[in-house]
Amino acid sequence: MAELDLHTDRPHPARVYDYLLGGKDNFAADREAAQKGLQANPDSRIPPRENRLFLRRAVRYLAERGIDQFLDVGTGIPSAPNVHHVAQEITPTARIVYVDNDPIVLTHARALLTSHPSGRTDYIDADLRDVETILRSKALTDTLDLNRPVGLLLIAILHFIGDEHDPWAIVQRLLAALPPGSYLALSHLTGDFRPEAWEQVAEVYRKQGVTMKVRSRPEIERFFTGLDMIDPGLQILPAWHPDLGDPTDPAPSDAQVSVYGGVARKH
Ligand SMILES: C[S@@+](CC[C@H](N)C(=O)[O-])C[C@H]1O[C@@H](n2cnc3c(N)ncnc32)[C@H](O)[C@@H]1O
Repeated sequence: MAELDLHTDRPHPARVYDYLLGGKDNFAADREAAQKGLQANPDSRIPPRENRLFLRRAVRYLAERGIDQFLDVGTGIPSAPNVHHVAQEITPTARIVYVDNDPIVLTHARALLTSHPSGRTDYIDADLRDVETILRSKALTDTLDLNRPVGLLLIAILHFIGDEHDPWAIVQRLLAALPPGSYLALSHLTGDFRPEAWEQVAEVYRKQGVTMKVRSRPEIERFFTGLDMIDPGLQILPAWHPDLGDPTDPAPSDAQVSVYGGVARKH
């Protein structure tokens, strides 16, 4: 593998997220940004934790409905259980393609390639904004059968894509490549409950050259345009199918979580 420039002098979303989850794959600049974020919003560790729990519940929900192919874009530094662990526990033959644009995630991709022998996983080093590269990638076409339904996972990634890149069109382009019966599972940070605190967190990122755009409920609902929303609709994460996992005790408030999530089906 060619030597990668990890840009350890500035924070990267995957590494800040790793730090907030209690991981070790982060550098001083990431920890500093995370600490500044924690000063602006002392509950900053709660969204990543609830987000991982939502991801696992959503994958379980889809796998239980027969979805055995997943495209997980913005996969993050591996944090077990990952998508293939959850999906292959239900369907050992499940196939998963992971995508991220951060070189540190690439260096950890091996941990994502530990598929059950009867299933398969692969990894694409690509940017969500470059949908064509993802869709044309051999790793994708060799691993997933795009004539059969796919679970598209966009979990805590779209708030790193500014409006100027039209993230809504990006989601529609990806969905257009998937057949009816496919699903979209999505989560997204919101400033609806604590606008000032989240604006300050976003500012910490922006000053370091990282886009962070928290969005309102209607802006996040727009990502599901043209799809059939699955009950209970778009929710603050712990309220989305708590039956499918172990809820956090005591339950965090909506303001502490500040992430909406939902699942919808393409007809
Ligand atoms: C907050 S983490 C979420 C990780 C995982 N989806 C989860 O929910 O636990 C966001 C991930 O999205 C990746 N990411 C951000 N912008 C991206 C882009 N434009 N293309 C691909 N990946 C991106 C980051 O590198 C990071 O790993």
